Amino acid sequence: MPTISVQGKTITCDRGANLRKVLLKHGIDLYNGNAKIINCMGIGTCGTCAVEIEGEVSAPNWKDKARRSLPPHSPTSNRRLACQTQVLGNIKVKKYDGFWGQGSSVIS
Ligand code: FES
Repeated sequence: MPTISVQGKTITCDRGANLRKVLLKHGIDLYNGNAKIINCMGIGTCGTCAVEIEGEVSAPNWKDKARRSLPPHSPTSNRRLACQTQVLGNIKVKKYDGFWGQGSSVIS
């Protein structure tokens, strides 16, 4: 069972689980500020669920790539959309500041 290290917690999930759903289920602050209310609920269009991931996850799908190619995200940044990502192994997740999680300071 994969483990996820995030915001000082270690949680487990099934292999292949949707990262957004797992993080929200365990009370992790996936969204910053008003993005907690104003988000696309996992459709892959708003971009506010962006996180940095270290470890084995699914390859970026077209929604993930498309949304992250638009400002304030950048296709060259090391973020992923949690709602479009499946957990495949043990991972570390960092959430950064900014409405879209596009900032440079980690939310801990
Ligand atoms: S929740 Fe909107 S893009 Fe992931």
